[in-house]
This record gives sequence, C-alpha cells and structure tokens, in this order.
Amino acid sequence: MILVTGGAGFIGANFVLSWLRASDAEEVINLDKLTYAGNLANLSALQNDPRHIFIHGDIGDKDLVSKLLSDYHPRAIVNFAAESHVDRSIHGPAEFIQTNIVGTFNLLECARGYWAGLQRVDKERFRFHHISTDEVYGSLASSDPAFKETNSYGPNSPYSASKAASDHLVRAWFHTYGFPVVTTNCSNNYGPYHFPEKLIPLVILNALNGKPLPVYGDGQQIRDWLYVGDHCSAIREVLAKGILGETYNIGGWNEKANLEVVNIICQILDELRPRADGKPYADQITFVKDRPGHDRRYAIDASKIEKDLGWRPQETFDTGIRKTIQWYLDNPDWVQAVVTGSYRDWLEKQYLN
Ligand code: NAD
Ligand code: TYD
Repeated sequence: MILVTGGAGFIGANFVLSWLRASDAEEVINLDKLTYAGNLANLSALQNDPRHIFIHGDIGDKDLVSKLLSDYHPRAIVNFAAESHVDRSIHGPAEFIQTNIVGTFNLLECARGYWAGLQRVDKERFRFHHISTDEVYGSLASSDPAFKETNSYGPNSPYSASKAASDHLVRAWFHTYGFPVVTTNCSNNYGPYHFPEKLIPLVILNALNGKPLPVYGDGQQIRDWLYVGDHCSAIREVLAKGILGETYNIGGWNEKANLEVVNIICQILDELRPRADGKPYADQITFVKDRPGHDRRYAIDASKIEKDLGWRPQETFDTGIRKTIQWYLDNPDWVQAVVTGSYRDWLEKQYLN
C-alpha cells in the first residue's frame, strides 16, 4: 500500500480518487488533519471502498506517523499535506511554518527510521514523493525563460518560503542519508473539489451568486495553469519511474494573465448559465487592492518530465476549464456545503463521533 498525506484536500483527494480508479490499485492510507481545507465529502465516493483507509491526524505527530508506518508497512509516501493559500500565509504564517516545514521534517524523520529498518528488497523500492510548487522559484520578468529544475530558489511569500524550506529538507535527506526521495514542482492547478478561496473556483461561484469578481491589482499577473487530473497522472508517472534524488517540474504549457482567466470563465458561464438579466458576467469584474509582494509571473518548462518520463498534459486550458465549470454547475450540494461551512458539521457527525 501507499501512504498519502493531505488526501482530503483538493489535489490529494483528486489523486486518491484517480489512484483507486485503477482496478489493480494498491490500497491507500490517507493521513489528513482535516484543517478548513480538508473535506471528507471529496472522498465520499470511497465510503464503502475497503482499499481506502482514512486516518485523522497531523504529519507533525511523531508517534502517530511512526505507528502508521509500522502497522501498515507502505512501500511509498506521497506528501501533499500543507497549508497552501498564499493570502492566508500573509495574514498568518505560523501554521505554514508548522505544517510545511516542521511537519515535513517530522515525516522525513519518521520515514527515514522506518526505511532504515526495512529488508533489502522493500528498502530498495521505497519512495518518498514530496509534492511542491513552482512558487519556490520566485517571480519571472515577462522576457525570462520558464522555470527549469536548475533555476535557483527565490521564494517571496511566507507560503512559498515554507515550501522551499521543505524542498531543501527533502533534498538534504537524500544527499546526507541516502533517503530515497523524489520532488515535483507543479504550477497552479484547477479542477473539481478546489476550495473556493483560490482564484478559479472563487470566480465561478461569485459569478453565479451575483457577487463581485475580485481581480488583484491590474490583473496582468501571469500563472501557468494545469488541470488537476494531469497533475495526478504526472505524480503517478514520477512515483513509478522517477530517478531518486531528482526533481521534476510539472506544468500545463498554459501561461495566462489573471484577467484573461477571469474573462474566459465569464464567457463560458455566459454560454452555459446565462445571467437572468441577460448581461455578461464580466460586468461583475472588480479591481481590488493588490496582494502584498505579489509575484508577477510564473512559468514552467516541463520538458524534463516529458523527455525523461514521457509525460505530457492531456487537457488544454479550454477543455480543462470547461470541465471544471461544468463540475461546479453539476455539484451544487458540494458547493453549498463548502460555502455554508456545513461540510465541517457533516464531518463531525459522520466521522469524528
Ligand atoms: P489544500 O489546501 O486543498 O489541501 C491540503 C490538505 O492537507 C488538506 O486536506 C488539509 O487538511 C491537509 N493538512 C494540512 N495540514 C496538515 C497536517 N499538519 N497534517 C496532515 N494533513 C494536513 O492544498 P492543495 O491545493 O490540494 O495542495 C496540495 C499540495 O500540492 C500542497 O503541498 C501544495 O503546496 C502543493 N501544490 C498545490 C498547487 C495548487 O495549485 N493548489 C500547485 C502546486 C503544488
Ligand atoms: P491563487 O488561486 O490564490 O493561487 P496562487 O497565489 O498560489 O498563484 O491566485 C492565483 C492568481 O490570482 C494570483 O496571481 C492572485 C490572483 N487572485 C486574484 O486576482 N483575485 C483573487 O480573489 C484571488 C484569490 C487570486
């Protein structure tokens, strides 16, 4: 089996669901603290699936992590668990330091102890796959080439600094202890189960609810966007075939300015769910104060993973964003539970008791 951390969040849940879709998939132990970003409703399709074992807990809990490793004997760990929202990291960085840095350190140490005690064959096939972000590389000027794995790190937000620190720990555990790691640095994801504090789901839901669509600053900041299903397939590929100690950049070859993304969402909604008054959703766009220290541009050069492992994204931005918008239109119960916060009551009723 494999141990996934943070598997009730956006990308982790998509990964667990897609992993278990394969009929011969190994079982998954899913360790998640269920912060505001963790939502068991994301995993409701697995309620009666014995291949999914959910454990409520913290990657920073040494006793729990060590016990899970010795009880379940996973052959790999995929570490998604993190605080992930830049704006929250600006308002309150402490949790980011705790989970992203101290938590990853604890996970590495527990895993290293476990790995050291494995028999030769198990030891050789063990993998620690650390999930990271392109934000660790810092901000690009418009004429700069896209981030390569060899770029130096230059994180600018408390979030990206905490992820950069965790990447450095993972790297050091490989070089110092020979601990078998791979790291992937991915661009901005979007797709089903995305918590509506991030740009794309926020814009979809605010548009449908007649609320303003907040665009920070001039809206000309550029991100590379990758459909979450493509990120999950890249992770499976790296987990299966990645070279130990290597890092792989993952991206969608889809650089877009934020304002363009917001306008595309508005146009698709105009088509799929026109406003009752017949006006365009773009009328709701509102320019607001910029994020402090806002990185201007991220771009990923994903040629290494393509050349070495044969991975390329399947979705274009057009196909991926349509699927995403349709998913939000088709899942009003999920949306309602998240927007009202009742997903947390559900969790207490259904799980914690
Ligand atoms: P998310 O915020 O949606 O989910 C994070 C999950 O981790 C939640 O389920 C939360 O409950 C859990 N968690 C938080 N602290 C924990 C702890 N101490 N112990 C155990 N579980 C804990 O995040 P996401 O968008 O799914 O991102 C997942 C990973 O991918 C993160 O490491 C993030 O840095 C990385 N990443 C995200 C993006 C993106 O666009 N969202 C892009 C590149 C990389
Ligand atoms: P976000 O989804 O928070 O991801 P990240 O900051 O990790 O890239 O934001 C994506 C981009 O959209 C980023 O440049 C900030 C911008 N943004 C807005 O303009 N308005 C918003 O309301 C939000 C949440 C983000």
